[in-house]
Amino acid sequence: MDVHIPDGCLVVLIGTSGSGKSTLARRHFLPTEIVSSDACRGLVADDPRARDADADAFRLVHLLVATRLRRGRTTVVDATNVQPRSRRTLVATAGRYSRPAIAVVLDLPSTVCEQRDRDRGDDAVGADVVQAQRRLLDRGLATLDTEGFAQVVALRTAAEVEALSRR
Ligand code: UTP
Ligand code: MG
Repeated sequence: MDVHIPDGCLVVLIGTSGSGKSTLARRHFLPTEIVSSDACRGLVADDPRARDADADAFRLVHLLVATRLRRGRTTVVDATNVQPRSRRTLVATAGRYSRPAIAVVLDLPSTVCEQRDRDRGDDAVGADVVQAQRRLLDRGLATLDTEGFAQVVALRTAAEVEALSRR
């Protein structure tokens, strides 16, 4: 699938742990275009998985997103974004700077995400966490197109993720 990413827009990746958000972001975007919750946890707590640093890390995520959008820089948010509230905040920030927000949903089977998570060994978050994220995601999927995104791109298989191209 060909997805047009207009300059200066906000791309919101949505998917559970192990769905391939960071891999997709690295493949299609410059490192400087990617605002990652893991990287922000790392910056504030020296540990990309430090859950107790979430509040500070996400303040940084939102500051970076707002600053880049104000400056007209294409920005990709690499975080699970399975909670409607997280997406609402991001869509509102894009709106404040009159930038379109594009949702890219990595809606892969849970079994695939859980297997990839397991394969990460010590960095795994665990099947329970992946399943809880999945339930949150499922609750919001049907109404994603009412959340204010200019475009919603849903990728449901590894092959669809592979075939994605940015133009
Ligand atoms: P990612 O690390 O890209 O997932 O891939 P993620 O969505 O960003 O996960 P979180 O939220 O940060 O936890 C997870 C694993 O799956 C592999 C990657 O190499 C990585 O080890 N992967 C990803 C594949 O094997 N194939 C893919 O197409 C994508
Ligand atoms: Mg990641």
